[in-house]
Amino acid sequence: MTDQKFDVKESKFISSSPALKGCPPPIEPEFAFIGRSNVGKSSLINMLTNKKGLAKTSSTPGKTRLINHFLINNKWYLVDLPGYGYAKVSKDQRSEFQKSILEYIGKRDTLYCLFVLIDCRVPPQDVDIKFINWLGEGEAPFVIVFTKTDKISQTELTKNVDDFKSKLSESWDELPQVIYSSAVKKLGRNEILGSIYGAMKAD
Ligand code: GTP
Ligand code: MG
Repeated sequence: MTDQKFDVKESKFISSSPALKGCPPPIEPEFAFIGRSNVGKSSLINMLTNKKGLAKTSSTPGKTRLINHFLINNKWYLVDLPGYGYAKVSKDQRSEFQKSILEYIGKRDTLYCLFVLIDCRVPPQDVDIKFINWLGEGEAPFVIVFTKTDKISQTELTKNVDDFKSKLSESWDELPQVIYSSAVKKLGRNEILGSIYGAMKAD
């Protein structure tokens, strides 16, 4: 069971912003979810908050297009970001979007930690490795979350995670923290909330 102090008692949608400029005043700590389109960012936010429709989800990639702030327990934010690597938007749109997300990540003073979501079903993807390496260059704190673990066997999961880690170790001496999740089976909730509360406590 989740420690009472660690739980999400109240969650509410605050705003959708196209860029850093429109985000709520940078006062409360925030924790953002990023990863390829369709990896399960919005679903994970709904799982953490126990509210099915809080963040909009879709089986079609490219659902989340804005920076969405959800205020938790009136004290901190969960932030749902658009996915990267979505092919169905024009090049111009993509670079515009990427500029605003990278600006948000690079300049948001109250961003405590990013959760980088990786689909556990696929072999290591260049776009994910590149993004994680970019985070490393900027020394942005992040945790990796392997999503949709309900969809594959333990053997496949171990293989894909090992492959991913060995790709990462080509550029990283020390590997980042890794969490396994399933929005369907409600796995990884305690680990993610623990990581969030740990980061706020350390502050
Ligand atoms: P964009 O906003 O388009 O970038 O996508 P997203 O990363 O927010 O993904 P979203 O949460 O909308 O989920 C995409 C699809 O994957 C939906 O059909 C979800 O129901 C499904 N999905 C998400 N998480 C899980 C999971 O843990 N297990 C399973 N089986 N399906 C999941
Ligand atoms: Mg989404």
